[in-house]
Amino acid sequence: MYVADDKRYDAMQYRRSGRSGIKLPAVSLGLWHNFGGVDNFENSRAMLRRAFDLGITHFDLANNYGPPYGSAEETFGQILKKDFLPHRDELIVSTKAGWDMWPGPYGDLGSRKYMLASLDQSLKRMGLAYVDIFYHHRPDPDTPMEESLGALDTAVRSGRALYAGISAYNAKQTAEAVKILRDLGTPCLIHQPKYSMFVRDPERGLLDVLEKEGVGSIVFSPLAQGLLSDRYLQGIPSDSRASRDFFLKKKDIGEDKLAKVRALNEIAGQRGQTLAEMAVAWVLRDPRVTSALVGASKVSQVDDNVAALKNLKFSAEELLKIDGVLAGKQSP
Ligand SMILES: NC(=O)c1ccc[n+]([C@@H]2O[C@H](COP(=O)([O-])OP(=O)(O)OC[C@H]3O[C@@H](n4cnc5c(N)ncnc54)[C@H](OP(=O)(O)O)[C@@H]3O)[C@@H](O)[C@H]2O)c1
Repeated sequence: MYVADDKRYDAMQYRRSGRSGIKLPAVSLGLWHNFGGVDNFENSRAMLRRAFDLGITHFDLANNYGPPYGSAEETFGQILKKDFLPHRDELIVSTKAGWDMWPGPYGDLGSRKYMLASLDQSLKRMGLAYVDIFYHHRPDPDTPMEESLGALDTAVRSGRALYAGISAYNAKQTAEAVKILRDLGTPCLIHQPKYSMFVRDPERGLLDVLEKEGVGSIVFSPLAQGLLSDRYLQGIPSDSRASRDFFLKKKDIGEDKLAKVRALNEIAGQRGQTLAEMAVAWVLRDPRVTSALVGASKVSQVDDNVAALKNLKFSAEELLKIDGVLAGKQSP
């Protein structure tokens, strides 16, 4: 039987999501990889337990996480039932709809029909009465924003979700979406963009919009899917994401990238951190970032990513050095 650690709230930091009443852990855990039907259930369970013991109160899912699609929600539902039911009110569970989920015209993108049917399916798979956050996973160019965001509003009003979120909306779309949701009376709690030392698009307008509108941000792939760690310094390990050559492609781990990773690894060492820790700390250096949404394939990675919180401060000189490396001036 799982007994949660009494000290789980002692060390974790919690940050308010925009101007809402919700605080999220500075590090959250996503179930995109390593929680599917093909994965080792006891390993998935051990990672979730360790995360909760470290004060990670937020687990992020989507309808199609797996593989197969839907199976990460099923795994989560089983673990919730076995381990976390007494703690349901201590958890923020999110799911999303917006990418391909089932065949035909109503299983993808952003229609009201798709989004609400998908949410009902997600709740069933997880055995939950409601999710804490329901996201539109990506904007749909063929559906009026009012329809997709109206579905989020309905999800909240019908009690299937407590808050609404958006993902992958650009700065302009976000400003529009925030207004539509506010007018509907269901304010946007949070945006989920991709952000890391290697992917800095949110710095070009999105974070400004979120700050102005009082919307939080939970940034995904802060380790660039594992590239911003020591994982690939000696080649491509057989149990790594890149070895599957699908979401993280082998061809994207060229000598140029690795030279940057090595130089960043050296800077991390000078800060007394692993590169993974520095990558998490780096996204959290910006107070507009509410939470770093990491993934993991083993318990030790969960520990490492949370250990980032021991040193979130960067000197101006360190930030310059990092920018220099990212710009291709290799020497740290
Ligand atoms: N909204 C969206 O469109 C969207 C898109 C993508 C992801 N997400 C969310 O963001 C979450 C995180 O994405 P992500 O998994 O790409 O994040 P990430 O943290 O950048 O990458 C996680 C991977 O990095 C490796 N790793 C993690 N910690 C490590 C450590 N301390 N040392 C060495 N390697 C480490 C592991 O890879 P190995 O498997 O190789 O060990 C792990 O699976 C997802 O689970 C999902 O919830 C959202």
